[in-house]
Amino acid sequence: MILLTGGAGYIGSHIAVVLLDAGLDVVAVDNLSNSNSASLERIRAICGRSVIFRHADIRNEEAIYQILRAHDVTAVIHLAGLKAVGESTAQPITYYDNNVVGTMRLVSAMTRASVKTLVFSSSATVYGTPAYLPLDEKHPVAPINPYGRTKYFIEEILKDLHESDKDWRIAILRYFNPVGAHESGLIGEDPLDVPNNLLPIVAQVAIGRRPKVHVWGNDYDTPDGTGIRDFIHVVDLASGHLSALSQLRQPGLLTVNLGTGSGSSVMDVIQTFKEVSGRPVPYVIDQRRVGDVATCYADPTLAKNLLGWTSTRSLTQMCADHWHFQMKNPNGYRGA
Ligand code: UD1
Repeated sequence: MILLTGGAGYIGSHIAVVLLDAGLDVVAVDNLSNSNSASLERIRAICGRSVIFRHADIRNEEAIYQILRAHDVTAVIHLAGLKAVGESTAQPITYYDNNVVGTMRLVSAMTRASVKTLVFSSSATVYGTPAYLPLDEKHPVAPINPYGRTKYFIEEILKDLHESDKDWRIAILRYFNPVGAHESGLIGEDPLDVPNNLLPIVAQVAIGRRPKVHVWGNDYDTPDGTGIRDFIHVVDLASGHLSALSQLRQPGLLTVNLGTGSGSSVMDVIQTFKEVSGRPVPYVIDQRRVGDVATCYADPTLAKNLLGWTSTRSLTQMCADHWHFQMKNPNGYRGA
C-alpha cells in the first residue's frame, strides 16, 4: 500500500491514477485546503477502483502514524503542501509550518511505523536564477522566495535523515512546470482562487471566464521576448513517481529533475492553446512579474539514466488535454 499525501490535488490525483493503473493500492491523505474530494470519485471512474481516502493533515503525526499502521503502508509519496509563491512571501510562517513542519511530522510518523521509503515532491524553483542552462541537478541551489526555501529546507532535512540512517530510501523529484490533464478530461487542475500559473489562466481566457492573458514581459533575452519554461505533461510527471518508486527498491537517496528538456515561451503556449481550442486567446503585454526569470528548462538526462524515465507528451498534447478538462469542467469540480 502506498500513502499519497496531497492525493486529492492536481498532481496527486494523476499520480493516484498511475499507481492504480500499475496495480498498486493507494491510501490518499489530504486536508482539502486547496483541493476538492470530487477528484477522488473521478479517479474511480477512470481506474474502475478507488483509492482509500483519509481526510487528515500531515502535521497531525498521530493520525498519520495510525494510517500508516492501519493500511500496512510500505512507501510514501509526499506532495501535500502550499505552493503559491506570492502568498508564501506574505505568509512565510504558514508556509514553513505546512511544508517544513508538516514534512517533519510525516517523517516522524514514518520512523515510528518503520516505513522508510519516501518520494518527495520538490521543485525546480530551488535552483533560483539559472547560472547556466539546461539546469542539471548539480546546479547550485539558491531559492529566491519562501515557497522555494521550504522545498530547499526539506531537501536538506531529508539528506540529513538519510545520512543518519541508511535504511531510508528517498527520491527527491524536482518538478519543472506541470500542465495538462488526464486524457479522459475527468481530472485536471482546478485552482480554488485566481490562478497564478500560465496554463490555467490561458484556459480560463479561452473559455471566456476571464477577458485576457496578461503576458508578464516581452523584453526578455529570448527569441520572442517572453519567458521560456519547461512545461511537462502532468501524466508524464506522474509516471516519473512510479519510476522513482521502482528505483527505491535499492537503498539510497537520489535527487532528480522531472522535465522535458525543452523550453516553450509564453507566446508559444498562447498560440498552441489557440490552435487546439479553436478559440481566441486575447492577451496584453504587461510589466515583468517580480521574481520571474527569462528562461528555465531541465537537463533530464539523470532521470533517463537513473529511473529509465523520459517525458513523451508534446506541448500540443499538454494544451489539448488541459483544454479537454476545461471544456468538460467549465467551473472546475464545483459544477460536479
Ligand atoms: C511558478 C512559480 C514557481 C512554482 C511554479 C509551479 C513564480 C515566480 N514561480 O513558476 O516557484 O514552482 O509556478 O508551477 O511564481 N506568465 C504570464 N502571465 C500570467 C502567468 C504567467 O505571462 O498570467 C508567464 C510568467 O511570467 C512565466 C511563465 O508564464 O514566464 C510561466 O509562469 P508560471 O506558470 O507562473 O510558472 P513559473 O513562474 O515558472
